Amino acid sequence: MAQQPSLGEFLQAIPTKAPQASILQQRFEGLGIDPASSLYTKTALIVRAIDGLFATYGSLERYHAEWIQGWVLEQLTPAEFKEMAQIVFQSWVTPERLEGPGIPHIHKANDAIGAAIVAYAKRTRWPLHVLDLGAGTLGTTGHIAARLAQAGMAAHISAVEFTPALLAIAGERAARINQQAAAIQVAIINADMVGYLSQAESASVDFVTCSYALHHLHPTDQLATISAAYRCLRPGGAFLIADPQEGKSDFNLKVLLCEEPEAVFAIFSSPEQMAARLRETGFAPVEVLLRDDEHYTGYAVAGRLAS
Ligand SMILES: C[S@@+](CC[C@H](N)C(=O)[O-])C[C@H]1O[C@@H](n2cnc3c(N)ncnc32)[C@H](O)[C@@H]1O
Repeated sequence: MAQQPSLGEFLQAIPTKAPQASILQQRFEGLGIDPASSLYTKTALIVRAIDGLFATYGSLERYHAEWIQGWVLEQLTPAEFKEMAQIVFQSWVTPERLEGPGIPHIHKANDAIGAAIVAYAKRTRWPLHVLDLGAGTLGTTGHIAARLAQAGMAAHISAVEFTPALLAIAGERAARINQQAAAIQVAIINADMVGYLSQAESASVDFVTCSYALHHLHPTDQLATISAAYRCLRPGGAFLIADPQEGKSDFNLKVLLCEEPEAVFAIFSSPEQMAARLRETGFAPVEVLLRDDEHYTGYAVAGRLAS
């Protein structure tokens, strides 16, 4: 594997202009980031470098995904990671995405999280309090609600989200879930998940979930979220995380990194890395609920607390 060049070194080595704007470039410009802002300057350089990778190598290798992560870390502060997440998700809502079938491996991970909560919850009090971080349009909350309802369990689910376009859809979907089953009540909380969790009461939640959202945080905030979840959980509780597996799936290399700014400004981990962080924080046992070592689509892990 070639040694990682800094962003500056790499940009100097590539042709100055691509012949035409790539899909990634077009979508990036469509995000509407103020061109006079330093956020725009930094993120536009990364997008140019990714176009440069495609122009130079034709397609991306796994180590290129690591270079891109290195450049993103080199450029963006923790606050800018959050700003980018909100910007990319504000543009995410389209009728095709809302009405479409969704991404199968994300559904699978969300269902695995719901099933694990039902299995773990057998030994906790009622109604459960579940905190779903980065709730989006309630993909994770919906799977958890369905699994709990099927098992005859009662729960209050607090779904934390901070992107206005997604909050609007989440509100409609929560109203529908709340009408369907009185035992499962969902409340939408408009907040940054890191700030919200840091203020939450200690030992006040049975389960914290964060599905396909943790990679949008700077590593410092990823660790802060794990520590805060540990503090907020009651005995017998668990923190359940699902995320893309190391960002090196073929889907990521061949599709997402050529087209989706959302996949660019993110920091991915392996199941081992995430499990180790959970263990180092004090969670025991830590269980890998699913992983995909063939296509690297995604994984889910659970850090548990003794009853
Ligand atoms: C890929 S979506 C996943 C949604 C849902 N968990 C699912 O699996 O369907 C990631 C969500 O995390 C939200 N998000 C990212 N960073 C966040 C933060 N700091 N605070 C709150 N929400 C955040 C985004 O706005 C987006 O809706």
